Amino acid sequence: MDSFVFRNPTKLIFGKGQLEALKTELPRGGKILLVYGGGSIKRNGIYQKTLSLLNEIGAEVHELPGVEPNPRLSTVHRGVEICRSKGIDFLLAVGGGSVIDCTKAIAVGAKYDGDVWEIITRKAEPSDALPLGTVLTHAATGSEMNHISVITNWETKEKIGWGSPLVYPRFSILDPVHTFTVPKEQTVYGIVDMMCHALEEYFSPSPNVPLQERFAESILTTVIETAPKLVSDLENYEYRETIMLCGTMALNGVLKMGMRGDWATHNLEHAVSAVYDIPHGAGLAILFPNWMRYMAEKGIAIGKFLPLATRVFGVNPAGKEEREIALEGIRRLRAFWSDLGAPARLADYGIGEDALDILADKAMHAGPFGRLRPLEREDVLQILRMSL
Ligand code: NZQ
Ligand code: ZN
Repeated sequence: MDSFVFRNPTKLIFGKGQLEALKTELPRGGKILLVYGGGSIKRNGIYQKTLSLLNEIGAEVHELPGVEPNPRLSTVHRGVEICRSKGIDFLLAVGGGSVIDCTKAIAVGAKYDGDVWEIITRKAEPSDALPLGTVLTHAATGSEMNHISVITNWETKEKIGWGSPLVYPRFSILDPVHTFTVPKEQTVYGIVDMMCHALEEYFSPSPNVPLQERFAESILTTVIETAPKLVSDLENYEYRETIMLCGTMALNGVLKMGMRGDWATHNLEHAVSAVYDIPHGAGLAILFPNWMRYMAEKGIAIGKFLPLATRVFGVNPAGKEEREIALEGIRRLRAFWSDLGAPARLADYGIGEDALDILADKAMHAGPFGRLRPLEREDVLQILRMSL
């Protein structure tokens, strides 16, 4: 194992009816910036319930609506401006990963004299942040219980992940009922994303991590068992709560104890969604099996592919060569996502051969990437070509 320090300060408030906790978690009479997305919370009533609770504690509420999926730097700037002009003292994100990520960037931007893009691009270190809390409405990223945020600069077509311990949410309220209205397609993207987080950690070069591998496998097998039932019964509380907890646990740092994951595919997907603005989970569904196939065909990390195939995807190893077992596991993953309705080809988004150079340039912006076996430009091009 790698040496590690684990600390996650986010208070997780999970279960039916937990929205009420806003009354005790938020400062009374505070100036609160309510950050949300394109309107789903107004359609499903979460907005109205939240406002009424904020009124009960005498909050002065300001709003930043319209956070985009793949949140934009320009929206972060708008939020920073409101914080400064209104003297906001607490940020409340109500939505999915995009809303939460945008709120995290606003939190540091409001306390930084320069442009928050300098923090996101790691040219500057944040030294302070406004406190934030979240009400999660979509199970996917794990942003509700981590220090990570991903922001897109649409002018430069860059999508960059950054993090700071200052932006762990103070609390996150997870009521599975809040996810009932997430449409099937979006639910599937979230499922793919959380599985990919477990997979990214799983493909770690760190030695002797049997417990961490099994933690990741338990998230994968639980999702595999639950997801098909959920997509045909979207308002089933038990399926929603199982998937919601899986999403949080896949990227709240627990799987990272003693091991550092690969994360090449996420980097590659961020390059694709920076240019084509496709949903993150959809991009991963296309790219991840191809990254796996590329690695397995080269015989890299076979010690990871074998247990994944046999323990998670139920491949019977009898009479098969190692490579065959690995590839069968990958085929089963591909089939699982396709059966759920996830896309399998870049062509599904009109992305063709002519885009490959631009995407490879974007992905390579900081040099070779991925910890298991760093990808060079030629590797990236081949994986993208396999994904067309
Ligand atoms: O904008 P609204 O109207 O709220 O609609 C959203 C949005 O269109 C909708 N939605 C959310 N909750 C809903 C709902 N619709 C109906 N009912 C509800 N209860 O879902 C759509 C997608 O929302 P979004 O927040 O964009 O999805 P997700 O949670 O998957 O977040 C994706 C973003 O997070 C980044 C991705 O790159 C992408 O930018 N990531 C963040 C990470 C992190 N902070 O740890 C890690 C991830 O790997 C990922 O990169
Ligand atoms: Zn992800």
